[in-house]
Amino acid sequence: MSLLHQMAPKALRLIEAERAHQLTILALKAGFGPSRPKAPDPILATELAGLSLNGPVGLAAGFDKNAEVPLAMAGFGFGWVECGTVTPLAQKGNPKPRLFRLPRDYAVINRLGFNNRGLEVFGQNLFRAQQAGSICPIGANIGANKQSKDRVEDYCAALRVLWGLPNWFTINISSPNTPGLRDLQSADALDELLSRITQTKQQLTKGQPAPPIFLKVAPDLDDPQIESIATTCLKYDISGLIISNTTLARPGGLVSNHRAQSGGLSGAPLFERSTQVLRSFRQASAGRLALIGVGGISNAEQAWQKIKAGASALQLYSALVYHGPGLVADIHRGLAQHLRAEGFASIAEAVGVD
Ligand SMILES: Cc1cc2nc3c(=O)[nH]c(=O)nc-3n(C[C@H](O)[C@H](O)[C@H](O)COP(=O)(O)O)c2cc1C
Repeated sequence: MSLLHQMAPKALRLIEAERAHQLTILALKAGFGPSRPKAPDPILATELAGLSLNGPVGLAAGFDKNAEVPLAMAGFGFGWVECGTVTPLAQKGNPKPRLFRLPRDYAVINRLGFNNRGLEVFGQNLFRAQQAGSICPIGANIGANKQSKDRVEDYCAALRVLWGLPNWFTINISSPNTPGLRDLQSADALDELLSRITQTKQQLTKGQPAPPIFLKVAPDLDDPQIESIATTCLKYDISGLIISNTTLARPGGLVSNHRAQSGGLSGAPLFERSTQVLRSFRQASAGRLALIGVGGISNAEQAWQKIKAGASALQLYSALVYHGPGLVADIHRGLAQHLRAEGFASIAEAVGVD
C-alpha cells in the first residue's frame, strides 16, 4: 500500500464526511487507486453461491452507489465488490448534513436515503467495468425509490434493466432511511416480493443459469422475524442473506458528539448485534442458505469470529474510514494465519464451527 493510501484516511477525516467521500470517489476515478492489485493468499480462495472469490472480504454497499469505481476497489484486495444501492430513478436523498463520523466510537451514522443516479447510469458504469475486465465479481445492490407507488416493481425493474451485467444481485429491504422500506421484511410483504422477483427471474433466465440473488436484512430483528425471513427465503430461490445493514439502535456507551443523530449506525458498535443475528439466521436456516457477515468488522479476529458464527463470506465499509484500504489485505493475511493455526484447509471448512 502506497504512502498516499496510508495517509489519505487521516487527511480525509479533517474534511466534512460526505465531502470527503465525494473527494475519494473523484480521486479513484482520476486513477489515484492502487497500481498493482495483490492476490490474497491462495488458502483464502472460496466459493459463495457459485461465485469464485479470491478472498472472502468484500466491499459492502453504499461506498460506490453508482458503480463508478469497482475496479479501483477490487485493486485494494477486496475479493468481491458490491455497488449500489441503486434505485430505478435518480434521486437526491435526504437533506444535508446526512453523514456523520463518530470517531471515538469507530462508528458512522448515515441517513443518506438512497442518493444515486438511477439504473441507467449504474448500468452503463457496470458495463464499462465488466468490459475492462474485473479481477473479482461485482454485484448490484438494488432498492426502491422513495416516491414509488409499487416498490416491488422497482426491484423487478432493476433485474430487467441490469440483467447480464452484475455477477449477483442484492435485494436491499433493510435501509432505515427510506420510510417503510423495512416493512418489506414482514412475512406477507416478503412473500409477495420474493414471489414476484422469482417470476421475473424465471422470465429473464429462460432456463439459462442465473446469477445468485441475496437478500440484505436489518440487525433490528427478533427471533420470530428471523425464523419467518429464513423460511420465506428457502421457499423461493434466494441464494443467501447479507447480515446486516445499519442499526436504528443506539448501544449504550457511545461517546462521540454525533451519537444522537438520526439514521443508521454502523462500524464497531454494530459488531456484536450483527454477529448475534448472523448466528440466529444460521440456526434458522440450518445451513441451507449462504450467509454473508457484515457489521463492525475492522480486524482479522472479528472477521474470523463472523466466519465461525456461520458467514461464508464477509463485507465491510465503516472501518475503511478509520483504517484505510490497507485494512483489506491485513484482514486477509490474518484470516490465512487463523486457518493454518487452527488446522483448516479452507474458509468453507471453518464456516459455522462455533
Ligand atoms: C455511508 C454509508 C452508506 C451506506 N449505504 C448503503 C446502501 O446504499 N445500501 C446498503 O445496502 N447498505 C448501505 N450501507 C450499509 C453497509 O453496506 C453495511 O451493511 C453497514 O455499514 C455495516 O457494515 P460496516 O459496519 O462494516 O460499515 C451504508 C453504510 C454506510 C456507512
